[in-house]
Amino acid sequence: MSTLEKPWSGRFTEPTDAFVEAFTASVSFDQRLYAYDIMGSIAHAKMLSRVGVLTADECQQIETGLNEIKQEIENGTLQWSIALEDVHMNVETRLTQKIGNIGKKLHTGRSRNDQVATDIRLYLRHEIDLIIEALTRLLTALANRAEQEAETILPGFTHLQSAQPITFGHHLLAWCEMLVRDRARLQDCRKRVNSMPLGAAALAGTTYPIDRYYTAELLGFESVAENSLDAVSDRDFAIEFSSAAALIMMHLSRFSEELVLWSSSQFDFIELSDAFCTGSSIMPQKKNPDVPELVRGKTGRVYGHLFSLLTLMKSQPLAYNKDNQEDKEPIFDIVDTLKGSLRVYADMIPSMRVKHENMRNAALRGFTTATDLADYLVGKGVPFRDAHEIVGKSVRYCVENRCSLESLSLELLQSFSDLIQADVHAALTLEGSIAARNHVGGTAPVQVRAAIQRLRSRL
Ligand code: ARG
Repeated sequence: MSTLEKPWSGRFTEPTDAFVEAFTASVSFDQRLYAYDIMGSIAHAKMLSRVGVLTADECQQIETGLNEIKQEIENGTLQWSIALEDVHMNVETRLTQKIGNIGKKLHTGRSRNDQVATDIRLYLRHEIDLIIEALTRLLTALANRAEQEAETILPGFTHLQSAQPITFGHHLLAWCEMLVRDRARLQDCRKRVNSMPLGAAALAGTTYPIDRYYTAELLGFESVAENSLDAVSDRDFAIEFSSAAALIMMHLSRFSEELVLWSSSQFDFIELSDAFCTGSSIMPQKKNPDVPELVRGKTGRVYGHLFSLLTLMKSQPLAYNKDNQEDKEPIFDIVDTLKGSLRVYADMIPSMRVKHENMRNAALRGFTTATDLADYLVGKGVPFRDAHEIVGKSVRYCVENRCSLESLSLELLQSFSDLIQADVHAALTLEGSIAARNHVGGTAPVQVRAAIQRLRSRL
């Protein structure tokens, strides 16, 4: 038996196998929950005192002891012990070392099962708030950038082929819409995270006259879990959070892919500032877009964690099973990865250099205003399908003769349709094309500016 007596050792006659002790311990990673564990314990003790299970003095001693333990943890003096398995038993044992037998009363009317479920929910609630803040910060950076680029023209792509001219402001606002939905998903998930398991005890509730609403109020929970079996066992709230996180990473991976492509000499639309790139140890000319590449790569680990959690929960019979101890590392890593990715993005966007000329030149290639010519013909009474055909022929002429649509003379254009008149050239310019898409959700600079105002009011 290890030097430290285990709180559950009463019914055992043989010591834990040394390897099993290490194998089953979670303290190396769940010590991260210490602040929430202590917060939950103080609230639990206060509730026990209020309903007369602990005296006011006992409660006070417990609270003081726990606050001191928090200090010990924060200044690195608490000795974590694997023999004490997890953060809960480490803290409780330390409390008894400090205040004696009264410390042993803290666990009255609860179990590590409802305790750990409470700790993770408190932790996740706090982290969700920080992630929402990080998303808002990134959204603000993107909105500011979109405002600067409200008139910047680049080709929009479908199938990664130049399609139609768009404004860069509009393009950036597309990412904003995705991130706004991501934020709403987290806000919604927070409601289900913020429900209190405490009181469920091991699985069936407790014989003490507990006041769960009081504990919930102390801990800021919006509700108390209705069913004790459900409260200690399900981790669906963590899976839901992970799905929301996976969607955010999916969006960032798409964004990253563009930044990587656009940094290449083939596109050459943007230059990330040196602070967000690294060089090559062999090729002196290289400046690599490491940050977006890494965010793209880190998306994989978040997806992996989501799948770990789904699989962890799959087929688990009611109620608590030790399997659930495996929920923590994926959750922690998702939180760290997500916060890191959002932070680095919010820092990177304002310092990104946009190469306006290159964007514009790219938009001039690839017949991006062909649809505008078709729309022009529709305006002259040609049915859209026929207009499409006429423009297709003029594009083919341009391909064969290596020229652009807007460089064709009026006479030449009239050889494709005699309805074409001198006003056609206005429709064929990049500015004419974007300005014409002047409706809610369109790419015209005036619409982009209005969309930024609406976005800001939502932030
Ligand atoms: N370390 C455990 C976990 O993370 C705490 C709950 C343990 N409960 C138990 N009955 N062994 O899930």
